Amino acid sequence: MTKPLASLTDFDLHKRDFGPEFIWGVSTAAYQIEGAHDSNDKGESIWDRFTLNTKNIHLGQNGQKACDFYNRYKEDILLMRSMNIRHFRFSLSWSRIMPDGQGTLSTAGIDFYNRVIDFCLACGITPWVTLYHWDLPQALEEKGGWTNRDILNWFETYAIHCGQLFGDRVKHWMVLNEPMVFTGAGYFLGAHAPGKKGLSNFLPSVHHATLCQALGGRALRKVVENACIGTTFSCSQISPYSSRKRDIKAAKKADALLNRLFIEPSLGLGYPSKDLKVLKRLAKYQKPGDEKNMVFDFDFIGIQNYTREVIKYSFTVPYLRSKLVHATKRKVPTTLMDWEVYPKSIHTMISKYNAYEGINKLIITENGAAFEDKVVHGEVDDRLRLSYLQAYIKEVYRAKKEGLRLDGYFVWTFTDNFEWAEGYRPRFGLVYNDFDTQKRIVKSSGKWYKEFLVDP
Ligand code: BGC
Repeated sequence: MTKPLASLTDFDLHKRDFGPEFIWGVSTAAYQIEGAHDSNDKGESIWDRFTLNTKNIHLGQNGQKACDFYNRYKEDILLMRSMNIRHFRFSLSWSRIMPDGQGTLSTAGIDFYNRVIDFCLACGITPWVTLYHWDLPQALEEKGGWTNRDILNWFETYAIHCGQLFGDRVKHWMVLNEPMVFTGAGYFLGAHAPGKKGLSNFLPSVHHATLCQALGGRALRKVVENACIGTTFSCSQISPYSSRKRDIKAAKKADALLNRLFIEPSLGLGYPSKDLKVLKRLAKYQKPGDEKNMVFDFDFIGIQNYTREVIKYSFTVPYLRSKLVHATKRKVPTTLMDWEVYPKSIHTMISKYNAYEGINKLIITENGAAFEDKVVHGEVDDRLRLSYLQAYIKEVYRAKKEGLRLDGYFVWTFTDNFEWAEGYRPRFGLVYNDFDTQKRIVKSSGKWYKEFLVDP
């Protein structure tokens, strides 16, 4: 099976080409896979609430059942193991561990993560745990969520609990998943939970997330011995639509917003407000000492790349004066998300992050693609995903060969799962999931990854 698949493209790399220390894994997130949204005393999260309004999500779907990972974690971890995957990134659901976001801890929630962690370790799989992948406890959102500065205390307490509960066995941690996306889509555009809009929500959320990203790192470092602590950022190559001055300027602004807003303050460079003036308004939420407290010496930085963005000047877009030129309009190859397939983007972002001083390790914590998948005679031959992954991994290799620092790569994602506002339509998995029966089928891309990961 593998040979004809691999020969679809001219992919001739082997795991050993990336070196013995290079980490290969898969990434997931709690709300997207767990289901069991109200099991035992689990509290409501902003995604549980947001999906109740069926208009918010494609076909009115929700993550109440998702992949039922809560009940099927053993089967999934065993499947992972059979596919030679030795690093598993998943997130903790804050409201499963602390139903109200603060105060009481849930024994059932803690037991669940203990079982998952212990089973991973028993299977020889290293758990990589994200503290926060977008599912804030609803009880905290009632108090303003990320717009309320009290989140600094709530988040610190949560991080300390997680470190103390699981840090004896979990050594690889990520504080936040893509703060740009959960503040931008959740507190500016209203397209993600909690559905808030406007600058007055966005700016305080940005500042508090920036502080929490560093604070979470410090909290984990204090309570977890020998921890390897990171955090993750969404990032895309930004290309100006034309060589006209105003498109170039527009692209620079978009780059400041989409790529630089969260990493730079953590490195001590402050917010990139020189290139995006509206960020100066963050000062309103800043208190003495914040500049220093935004900084943390992460052991690794996780970057998540899927596509590139082409940016054009636009008079009508407030503050940014720039807009995306959609891939479909540009008539380029796209995924089901309408994202351009542009492998060079991952290389560009690896180079950009290498250019920052003060980054210790760099890991691709997400890369992957959604395409139309069809089950034919019990098999899913997802050639497009396979060639997407191979093309991006080749760019990763090119970066390594050029001597750029890069220490690992995680595919998004293991099984098809709940893709936020897009519901279950975009399938990103190496493993197909039938959401009615919860039957998993390893796709051709998954079979290839398995083969690729065989130890030489
Ligand atoms: C997120 C995932 C998401 C994936 C594909 C990333 O932005 O971390 O939760 O499913 O991209 O959209």
